[in-house]
Amino acid sequence: MTVCVLHAAAEMFPLLKTGGLADVVGALPLAQSQLGTDARVVLPGFPAVLAGLADLEPVADLGGAFGAGNVRLERGVLPPHGVVVYVVRADVFYDRPGNPYLDAAHRPYADNDRRFALLGWAAARIATGADPTWKPHIVHAHDWHAGLAPAYLRAFERGGAPRTASVITVHNLAYQGTFAASEFGALQLPGDFYAVEGVEFYGLVSFLKAGLYYADRITTVSPTYAREIQTQAHGAGLHGLLQTRTHDITGILNGVDYSIWSPSVDDSIAAKYTASKVAGKSKCKAALQERMGLARDDDALLFGVVSRLTEQKGLDLLLSAVPDIVQRGGQLVVLGTGDPALETGMKNAAAAHPGAVAVELGFDETLSHLIIAGSDIVMVPSRFEPCGLTQLYALAYGAPPLVHRVGGLADTVVDSSLENLADELATGFVFDTFDRAGIVGAIRRAFALKARRTDWKAVVKRAMGQSFSWEAAALRYAEVYQGLTGR
Ligand code: ADP
Ligand code: GLC
Repeated sequence: MTVCVLHAAAEMFPLLKTGGLADVVGALPLAQSQLGTDARVVLPGFPAVLAGLADLEPVADLGGAFGAGNVRLERGVLPPHGVVVYVVRADVFYDRPGNPYLDAAHRPYADNDRRFALLGWAAARIATGADPTWKPHIVHAHDWHAGLAPAYLRAFERGGAPRTASVITVHNLAYQGTFAASEFGALQLPGDFYAVEGVEFYGLVSFLKAGLYYADRITTVSPTYAREIQTQAHGAGLHGLLQTRTHDITGILNGVDYSIWSPSVDDSIAAKYTASKVAGKSKCKAALQERMGLARDDDALLFGVVSRLTEQKGLDLLLSAVPDIVQRGGQLVVLGTGDPALETGMKNAAAAHPGAVAVELGFDETLSHLIIAGSDIVMVPSRFEPCGLTQLYALAYGAPPLVHRVGGLADTVVDSSLENLADELATGFVFDTFDRAGIVGAIRRAFALKARRTDWKAVVKRAMGQSFSWEAAALRYAEVYQGLTGR
């Protein structure tokens, strides 16, 4: 019998994206439906979501909730593949321009607790019959934004509703959705849920903890991160709870949507190329140098970065290594947006090294493709990284990634050490210690390998031959679901 799954999330590519979460929610349900699962998605009714869906129609009136006025549930489909998407219509909450989480001054909206409580609550309402034509067997919540969905399912069950199983996927333990305890009363949860055995976290309400406590299963986006989050060093205060749930935790590596991220089909890049006919990559490099105002030099080793500019991503460490790249004749191109201090640091680096370092601040999907295609090496020196998608895209585009050995980066990139070159395993550059010596050592290995033409070509080709399919991930999720439903 078909398993019906409702994904609850805040972002979905191509409707709305601030990071990798959107790429996952944009790809996983489709891969699941190709395996015979009836996978649907529920999203907040942000303007970009409403604008991107076809055939939107009303499904149910959910009544007044969380002070959002009258909440309506609508259903549409996402072209071209037709994934069914439910939309929570509460314009007071969601009809705001710009970033889905932050106001114009880059501060979290003061009512984020109620805005995202509504998402979890609506998911639980769908699970308990809000759409008379469809009900999921499993609610699959993503990150803190949907973290209360499993809690509402339990609350509704207590009120007599049949049980629906739930899964939460942690895309990033660093974002927990914590709010003042005084807000708990507004969340429409039973009073006793505010407890250590519940949604309470060091005197606050934590949406992520709620999900981790009430969901039947927990997944995260790489095997290494699944282990890391159960340690004090990487558990962000939640390792104790996660340790108690160790048998319910699975690490499932994200995939790549190769219909979007593949240099053989990518219409946005200067020239298409494949692992066996890689000549187009030089054209992409030249076009990128041109576009970014870098010196037109095919021999300059070009390092690319496409990233949120946050503490997580380790770009302060990269800034400390910029002179090492430039002095060796290398170039650096950065696309990113985020912390003002990092934005300034990047701009200063570009000003200090005209023609060798170029920075574009902002979010630009097309430019992100041009950078991955045009770079010789893509850098992801993150302090921690649950999975990371840019290094997977970099592999597909023959730009060996340079990464810190942590989380999903450790699971997906193999260092070009002499042993790994000899064993035909190397796909990139991996450094172990998060310090200047670590990253500079990896940068030096990159220059050294580039000078050895045959080895360099072999690594590029091997990188392009790696496959991280969503089908494989969807099969692993199906096992998790099967453990819950028997289907
Ligand atoms: P995270 O989700 O932590 O940001 P991931 O590597 O999983 O990290 O995913 C990041 C996604 O966001 C990738 O698809 C990447 O290309 C994209 N991205 C990040 N910053 C930008 C930007 N400034 N412009 C365009 N795309 C970006
Ligand atoms: C998060 C993580 C990133 C992961 C993405 C998608 O934003 O930071 O590592 O790839 O989610 O799962």
